[in-house]
Amino acid sequence: MIEEISKGTGIKVDKIGRNSYTVTIIEQKDRGAENISNSRRDTEEGNERGTAEAELRVRAYAGMQVNNLQTVAFGWRAINGNGTKSPAEAGAASFLAGHWAHLDDLFFCLPKEIKGEMQKMIRVMVNGALGRMGHTVVQTVMQQEDMELVGAVDVFGKDKTVEGCPVDTDLAQALETRKPDVVVDFTRPDVVMGNLRTVLNAGVNAVVGTTGFTKEDLEELKGLAEKNNVGILVCPNFSMGAVLMMKIAAEVAKYFPQVEIIEMHHDKKLDAPSGTAILTAQKLAEVRGGFVQQGNPDEEEKLPHARGSEYEGMRIHSVRLPGFVASQEIIFGSMGETLTVRNDPVSRECYMPGVMRGCRTMVKRKGLVYGLDQILD
Ligand SMILES: NC(=O)c1ccc[n+]([C@@H]2O[C@H](COP(=O)([O-])OP(=O)(O)OC[C@H]3O[C@@H](n4cnc5c(N)ncnc54)[C@H](O)[C@@H]3O)[C@@H](O)[C@H]2O)c1
Repeated sequence: MIEEISKGTGIKVDKIGRNSYTVTIIEQKDRGAENISNSRRDTEEGNERGTAEAELRVRAYAGMQVNNLQTVAFGWRAINGNGTKSPAEAGAASFLAGHWAHLDDLFFCLPKEIKGEMQKMIRVMVNGALGRMGHTVVQTVMQQEDMELVGAVDVFGKDKTVEGCPVDTDLAQALETRKPDVVVDFTRPDVVMGNLRTVLNAGVNAVVGTTGFTKEDLEELKGLAEKNNVGILVCPNFSMGAVLMMKIAAEVAKYFPQVEIIEMHHDKKLDAPSGTAILTAQKLAEVRGGFVQQGNPDEEEKLPHARGSEYEGMRIHSVRLPGFVASQEIIFGSMGETLTVRNDPVSRECYMPGVMRGCRTMVKRKGLVYGLDQILD
């Protein structure tokens, strides 16, 4: 053990690494051992509940090595559950009830060094936690040294957990009980505005990856953020590659104003064109100074939408096929040559550095921020 930092009543916390602790229950060790053997007997009788109790008691009483403070808190809450006689029974009951602890539960018995570290932690709650993106965010938050996953919400979360964290189904209630500093939302375009009204009106910051916002939606979010004195980052694309693609494209558009965008996504995506394609088109339109006539003014579509959608004269084409994550190509055409800027994310992890940066920024910044590029420099 590198450093022993606490000898509280009934609990010993040893620091064994930068963010790694061992928690040992000092008192009632013998009784714990007795309970473990009782539980083993239950287990032999094929009692599933007994199995869970035995596991928990072994963890609580034999000392528990953990990788972050959140797990420490879980351990403490588990041994400190209510209404039962021994800590082991309380722990088992709490475990079986699927309690998710707050660090506050551990607070009163800890020395000030640990309290200081905990106070610096950003309390993150993930909305849409059972989805493809939400689940990746949950995993990533749990790996951050300065963040604590305090809650997970999903409409389909009843009786479910994600990475060991019970999933709440009611966002408003979860905001009240979990008390996050920031909510990360990766849900659906048709529900996200309702979610964000709830989050911002509760005085909580938001980092939003869900796409499909209109100009009016963004105006409303700006007003809500200002009214509630909180920060909200809306970011149609959290990948660094995509942000750089847009920056490069804006530079190219100064010299090659004729441009079409092809975005390629997996076939589960609900909205089209993608938020990134719209953002790209907006940025390019700024450089081009508004509408630019492209293609033949007399062109005729033989099938509806053959030329894709249109933004200020720019055509946007949406491909939906299994196999893609979220690729985009921006093709510039000029006399005798074309120039293509392309970005191909290969896994959802590419979004995570941007989402984590968003959480760290938005606990300090107020108002609406739109786009990852706004928080990079
Ligand atoms: N900004 C980015 O970089 C980026 C990257 C990828 C995806 N996205 C966007 O993120 C969103 C989610 O994508 P996904 O692939 O994870 O989708 P998904 O369908 O896998 O996940 C969405 C989750 O939200 C849950 N959900 C639906 N309504 C809810 C509600 N009212 N409250 C709480 N949870 C609710 C669903 O049950 C589901 O688990 C989409 O809009 C997608 O376009 C953005």
